This record gives sequence, C-alpha cells and structure tokens, in this order.
Amino acid sequence: MNEKKNKWVNLSYANIATTAEVAHKENLEWANSLASCGAGEFDANSEKNAMMPLRKSAASLLNCEISDICVGSSATELICSIAWALAPKNGCNIVSTQASFPSTVYPWTRVSMEFDSEIRLAPYDENNYTNPNDILKLIDKNTSILTLSHVEYSSGQRYDLNLFANAAHDAGALIVIDATQSMGVFPIDVHESELDFIVSSGYKWMRGTFGAAVAYINPKLHSSLMPGLLGFRSHNDMWDMQAKRFELPSDASRFEFSTINFGAALGLAKSIDQINQMGINNVWQNSIKLTDIIINECNKSHLTIISPLNDLERSGIICIQIPDDFDSKEVVRNLQEDYGILVTSRSGYIRISPHMDNTPDQIFYFINSLKKILQLK
Ligand SMILES: Cc1ncc(COP(=O)(O)O)c(C=O)c1O
Repeated sequence: MNEKKNKWVNLSYANIATTAEVAHKENLEWANSLASCGAGEFDANSEKNAMMPLRKSAASLLNCEISDICVGSSATELICSIAWALAPKNGCNIVSTQASFPSTVYPWTRVSMEFDSEIRLAPYDENNYTNPNDILKLIDKNTSILTLSHVEYSSGQRYDLNLFANAAHDAGALIVIDATQSMGVFPIDVHESELDFIVSSGYKWMRGTFGAAVAYINPKLHSSLMPGLLGFRSHNDMWDMQAKRFELPSDASRFEFSTINFGAALGLAKSIDQINQMGINNVWQNSIKLTDIIINECNKSHLTIISPLNDLERSGIICIQIPDDFDSKEVVRNLQEDYGILVTSRSGYIRISPHMDNTPDQIFYFINSLKKILQLK
C-alpha cells in the first residue's frame, strides 16, 4: 500500500493533500494510544487541551492571537455554526457568488429559508470568472453578510480581501471568508485585511487529514456571538457538566462544542508548524515557481489556461482547457491510471494544484504525460 502511495505524483492539493508525514505520524500515535489504553494516556486533561496545538499553529499562520482561533471537524460545520450565529433576518441580504463551493453558500441558504433573508449570488462567465464589480454591485444597505471563497475552487480566481472587507464594512456588513483553497499556500494576515471570519478545512493546502478545520473570529465579535451549534464542550469548564446551565468561553473557542477526531487536529497542528517553519511567503513563492512552469509549458503547447494569472488574482490552482475532442474526466483518469498523476477534472477543465511537497521535475512529468495523452508535440 505504501509502496503504491509513493508512486503517486499528487498535483491535486485543492482536492486532497498527501497528508504531511508529521501529521500522519502524530495522528497515528494518538490513535495507537487510544487503541492500547482508551483514556489511559489521552486523559481528561489532554482532551480538554487537545485543540491547543492547532489553535497555536493556525494563529501563527494568520498572525493573530490563539484566542481568535477555534477548531472544528470540517469547514462546512464551522460555517454552519457561524451562519446560525449571525442569522440575518427579514429584509436583509447575504451576498456571495454562483461559482462558490456549495458549502460557502448552503449554510446561509438554510438560514435565509428560516428567517426570510435574501441570498444574492454574482454570476460567472464562460471561463468560470466572476467579475469583482458584479459582487460589489449586489452589496447595499440591507446587506448583512458578504461571504466568499477566497479562492474559487473551480477556476482558481482569488479575491482581493482588502477590497471586499472594505466594501462589506462600508455597508455595515460582516465579511466571512472561506479560505479552504488558500490557507496554507497563500499568505493571509489578519492585520492587513480587517476580516470578521476566516474558515478553512485542514485536508487540502494545510496538509492535514479529514476531521479537522479551523476558524478565525475577529476579537471584536467574540463575546457577542451565540454559536449555532452547542454541546458539552461549549461550557467554559467543559468537565463541570450540568445540563441546567452553560457559560460560553469569552474567546473564539466558544464555537468548539463536541469531541472531534483529535488525532486529525493534533496532526494538522504539526503540518501547519512545518508551513510556519518554511514561512508562508516562501511557500507561496514556491507555488508560483511551480505554477509558472505549467503556464510556460501550456503557452508553448497552445493550451489555454482559464484561471486568472495576474498578480492580484492568481492562486495555487491552474485550470487548463483541453481540445474539444477530449473529455477532461477521461484525461484525468488516463493521467492517474497510466502515469500515476493525480489532478482533478472540474467543470470540463483539468485542475492542477501543486504544493510544497512537489518538485519542478514532477510538473514537467505531468506536462509531458498530458502532451502524450492529447497527442501534442
Ligand atoms: C472552498 C471550499 N470550502 C469548503 C470545502 C469543504 O470543506 P469540508 O470538507 O471541511 O467541509 C471545500 C472542498 O473542496 C472547498 O473547496
């Protein structure tokens, strides 16, 4: 199994990372301890503090305080809890995009059904591109929430966080960013962009595994928020269990409500530590270096890239348009089965999303394999 895994060239971090070795090891150690003695080692105190390593590493990555970070099982779950906490009411609207990953929008759709608020989604063009002005045009005095995927999963389009944070705040709205396709590869500094919420899953660019995600919550909001999801862990002192009352922690951890796969969270902390050690700016420069190879080689072969490539909008994701007589799903299957290369098919395009574990040689191998499949010189 391992031997096979090592044969894969995973160029699909926008889909699922090859779990960082440090994360896998930490996760396994935690699981082995549980399998050998239950709570013998992972005792009540360990369980209480189990989110801390991840809160620390994520805070360091975003340049915020540990108290601004909470941990959950998935990005979707955290967005749901935030959506119910904010729950815009009658006459208010929530602005986002049609190109969004469904989890960026559905939690708000559910809330809008309950409270009669309006969902407004900006359209996209034939290249899956959303004109930022089309988003801005939807914001008005009744907008309560602007929610965007920082990087759109299907095109790699990245939004200017400062532009949209200012637009939301000027209208008296809050901004909620789903950074699942950027956190861990593109630098986000909460002191540079005044954001209200940032949520990210852990099994993509942060190189953890399924079962752990993080959210940043602006400290100005902590004490005013009643999370949508509550459980025994929501109480300030989680082991003082009395169902007749609860007192929420004063910081972002009030959004932590239940047991999770702690091994995934402990592992994710380790893989983020690695990103922090390399430096997120260096990780991003490395990503540019790798995707530049794809761009140059596609240009030489006259293959069109639909992802925006300017400095303000590019991301770690590159989507290639293939000739009409080929089916992107079929090409992706060929790449996987015949060459051991993992990329994804999204909206008829080939989506490539390499990361810090990849090498330039692997990118050239992908390009040469793709050219063989497409019968290009
Ligand atoms: C932008 C975005 N948000 C959220 C998710 C899903 O996150 P989770 O599986 O942690 O709910 C994805 C998965 O592809 C995504 O691309």
